[in-house]
Amino acid sequence: MKMQQWLKTTMRFFVFLIFILWAGKSAHSCEIEFHPPLVFVEFGGSATANCDASLCSNIAGIGWESSFGGTGLVEGQSTLNVNLQNVKEWNTKPQCYIVFSDDTQKTKNLPITVYKMPKKVSMPKPISPMKATGEYYILQCDVEDVAPANRLIITWYKGNEMIYEQNRKGHNPLPVNESLQTTVNVVAEDHGKKVWCEARLNLSSAEQGPPPMRSESHVLTVYYPPTLTEPTNETLEISFGKTISLNCSATGNPTPVYSWHFADPTQEGIQKQNVTGPILTENFRVSGVYSCTASNAAGGTTKYFNINKPSRNWTTIAVILAVFLTLGAVLFIGGAIFVTKNGTFSFHRGIYRPTSTGPK
Ligand SMILES: *[C@@H]1O[C@H](CO)[C@@H](O)[C@H](O)[C@H]1NC(C)=O
Ligand SMILES: *[C@@H]1O[C@H](CO)[C@@H](O)[C@H](O)[C@H]1NC(C)=O
Ligand SMILES: *[C@@H]1O[C@H](CO)[C@@H](O)[C@H](O)[C@H]1NC(C)=O
Ligand SMILES: *[C@@H]1O[C@H](CO)[C@@H](O)[C@H](O)[C@H]1NC(C)=O
Ligand SMILES: *[C@@H]1O[C@H](CO)[C@@H](O)[C@H](O)[C@H]1NC(C)=O
Repeated sequence: MKMQQWLKTTMRFFVFLIFILWAGKSAHSCEIEFHPPLVFVEFGGSATANCDASLCSNIAGIGWESSFGGTGLVEGQSTLNVNLQNVKEWNTKPQCYIVFSDDTQKTKNLPITVYKMPKKVSMPKPISPMKATGEYYILQCDVEDVAPANRLIITWYKGNEMIYEQNRKGHNPLPVNESLQTTVNVVAEDHGKKVWCEARLNLSSAEQGPPPMRSESHVLTVYYPPTLTEPTNETLEISFGKTISLNCSATGNPTPVYSWHFADPTQEGIQKQNVTGPILTENFRVSGVYSCTASNAAGGTTKYFNINKPSRNWTTIAVILAVFLTLGAVLFIGGAIFVTKNGTFSFHRGIYRPTSTGPK
């Protein structure tokens, strides 16, 4: 019996305790909400915000406190607007407060960001010329007098293409100067393209922030090594009495210069001529390997030309033989016609005796 009594009393006590806690919670731990939940205001500008405590019960009044427009306590209301004007403080903390019927208070700071677009965005002139041979080059972006730095996004562009985007961390609400760098490597196609950077403030995903501010742009000068138009080595045959042109045309920036070499140094040939163009036209007499090197400030490339003498194979001899035989036959027939028409020559008396094998 005693035990049951004790249990009953204890349970009553706990039920009472829970009720007290719950009641207290409902009275004073309700949330104050702001509309919009985040406020962005340009330095020197103005903004409005709404404090909403309609979820709280037993409210006696509501009010705003700030150095740029307060309201004082407004009784009998649970939501209230404030108009913040001419905000000129980087660290401002407007507060909304509610007073309950039991005279207790609750306050909440408005999340506010005071911002300022940069005074100036600039890009120092990058290294020029750049080489398209794998090096990395620095592109710097200087942003002057911007706040807050942790909302700043810097974007680099190369010929309308975004190459990098960077933002800052930290909590400094004051205006700062920022100097950020990225690296870029270039290819031949980048010659003549423009580079620049842009600074913008990421104020809200929903609202449109202020438009980005752009630096001046710089035109890239890109040096790239010569590329042969016909990169494969060539094998050519000498034909007697005919000139051959060796073509070593290459594209590069700056315009490549060409130098020609003959494999055999005892051969004077082209060395006398000082050929500096992409085409070597010669009446080649000696077979061997000729090479051409196209080079510029970014590099060089070499192409080889194998010049061969035609091989004296049986086909060639047969062709020569056939030509002579045909010639012999023509002379023989011509001679026969000539003799018949005039009748003064005979085959036996003639000085000229064509044979069926032709002249030797
Ligand atoms: C930013 O740079 C400007 C110009 O160089 C200078 O006058 C100003 O004091 C700098 N501001 C800060 C916060 O360093
Ligand atoms: C802008 O800020 C929002 C919220 O802080 C973030 O979610 C978003 O990724 C940011 N946008 C960029 C481009 O950094
Ligand atoms: C051309 O010939 C040179 C020398 O024989 C050789 O080193 C090179 O690889 C060749 N290039 C091509 C594209 O065949
Ligand atoms: C050399 O080759 C290039 C590329 O194939 C061609 O444009 C040029 O006309 C050629 N030059 C000669 C003289 O054959
Ligand atoms: C070869 O050309 C170079 C540059 O054009 C010149 O300085 C040099 O005198 C020339 N040499 C001969 C032998 O013509």
